[in-house]
This record gives sequence, C-alpha cells and structure tokens, in this order.
Amino acid sequence: MNVVIKADPKAVTEFACEMVRERLAHDRYRVLGLPTGGTPVLLYQALIASYQRGEVDFAEVITFNLDEYLGLEPTHPQSYRRFMEENLFSHVNIRPENIHFLSGLPDDIDEHCADYERKIVEAGGINLQILGLGRDGHIGFNEPTSSLRSRTRDKTLTKATIEDNRRYFAREEDVPRWALTMGVGTIMDAHEILLLATGRNKADAMKAMVEGPMTAMCPGSVLQVHPRVTVVCDEAAAAKLDHDAYYRWMEENDYRMQGFLDEQRRRVESN
Ligand code: GLP
Repeated sequence: MNVVIKADPKAVTEFACEMVRERLAHDRYRVLGLPTGGTPVLLYQALIASYQRGEVDFAEVITFNLDEYLGLEPTHPQSYRRFMEENLFSHVNIRPENIHFLSGLPDDIDEHCADYERKIVEAGGINLQILGLGRDGHIGFNEPTSSLRSRTRDKTLTKATIEDNRRYFAREEDVPRWALTMGVGTIMDAHEILLLATGRNKADAMKAMVEGPMTAMCPGSVLQVHPRVTVVCDEAAAAKLDHDAYYRWMEENDYRMQGFLDEQRRRVESN
C-alpha cells in the first residue's frame, strides 16, 4: 500500500487528479471504476476543469460505478446515477453508452448483478478503481462482515451508514436501507486502486484499513493484499496512523528513487 499524506482536501484532489490524468493519457487506461459520496466531488470538479483545459479526454473512457441505492429511480435526486450525471458525466465528453450503472430497480437482482460482472469482464476489466472510505471501513457499500471475496450483490446498509447518508435526504425514513454494490472481490480484480479519504471522521477507518489486521469487519483492509494501491488522504484522516513518518519518508524517497533510476538509465544509454 502506498500511503500519501497531503495537507488538506485540496492537495489530495490535486494529487488524485494528476494520477487519473496521467493514467488516462500515458498508461492508456480506459476503464474506470467510480465512487460517489462527498469525498470524490472535488476530484470530479478538478477533472472537469482539466477536461475544459483540454488536458484529459473522456471520449474513449468506459466507467462502472460502484453502487446504487435499491428502490431509487435513476432520475431520483439522491440516486447515485443522478449524482454522477450532475457531478461529472454531463460536464465531460463521455459517451452515454460507455457509462455503466447498477439499477436501483432491477427486475431480477441476481441476474442484474451477474450481468454487471459480465460487462466489466467484456470491457477488459477495470484499469483504475477509485474508492472512497466509509466511516465504518466500508468500500462501495460493502459493510463490515462483507465477504472479502464477495461479488456484485445486494447489501443491507448499517445504521451508521444510513445516519451518514441522512444529510442528503429530507427525512430519515427516506434513506434507502439496501443497495446493490460491486463486491469486495470485484473491487480487488481492478488492475490498480486509488482510495481517497479526507476529514477527521475517517481517521479510525483509515487506521483500521491501513494498519489494522485484514478483516471483514473493515472491508477496506483487504486492500492491504492488492499489489497496486495508492491511498491518498489529508492530515485529518491520517491523524491516527502510527507509521505516518514512514509514509512521508517513503514519498520523499520515491522522488529520490526516480532521480536515481533516471541517472542509471542515462548511464546505460551513454555506454
Ligand atoms: C457511501 C458510498 C461509498 C463512499 C462512502 C463515503 O457509503 N457508497 O462509496 O465511499 O459513502 O462517503 P463520503 O465520501 O461522503 O464520506
């Protein structure tokens, strides 16, 4: 796990935006897995600004969103489908047929989820999966106790998650209790993962995810065994990490290592 600690959400956003831009441009990544929630909003704004400056192109990009509330129409103001439309899709040149979403009103849940998995495979798999982190350590809507090998399916939300999402709905009883979500195993199949966490209320989940034991009680902790994960967080979310000095040291030395590798390459080329 590569843990990058930045001063504030703005710096987290700059880092994440640069990484997404670089992957789309240089590594020719095409398939993105996308999250919703408050955390990625700044990233989406930065990507829109980048697109407007001509730095990033979504014409060939294919997206799969992580999850959707069960019971909400795609046009419902609080549906994740609508969230993505308002916060990213309607502002960039992504092709509507390249946007994939779980339905909040599927005819047959199992068939619908299996079909979503099939579509991810048909697209060639997810190149870069972007994630947020729930206060209880969930990723997507994989709440604590989710099987670490789970696939796309329905999930009952915890009361804590319902409380967290209460702010988006008029009344508590309007907050959906169930969702469809990519499974933990589905997320783990991505080639590379970028997780964003900001704010003090994520400090416990960050500690459990990065430095705790790998456990279904903190589904995010499974990322410890993924070979290409970058966690970028602000100081507030990093507040409870014990090894923060090492993460900072590592980042500092990564740049130095790049210099060392460039120097080596020059030496080989000049011989
Ligand atoms: C929801 C989403 C997650 C998201 C989490 C945290 O539960 N399903 O994908 O990571 O909220 O949201 P926020 O970024 O608003 O803290």
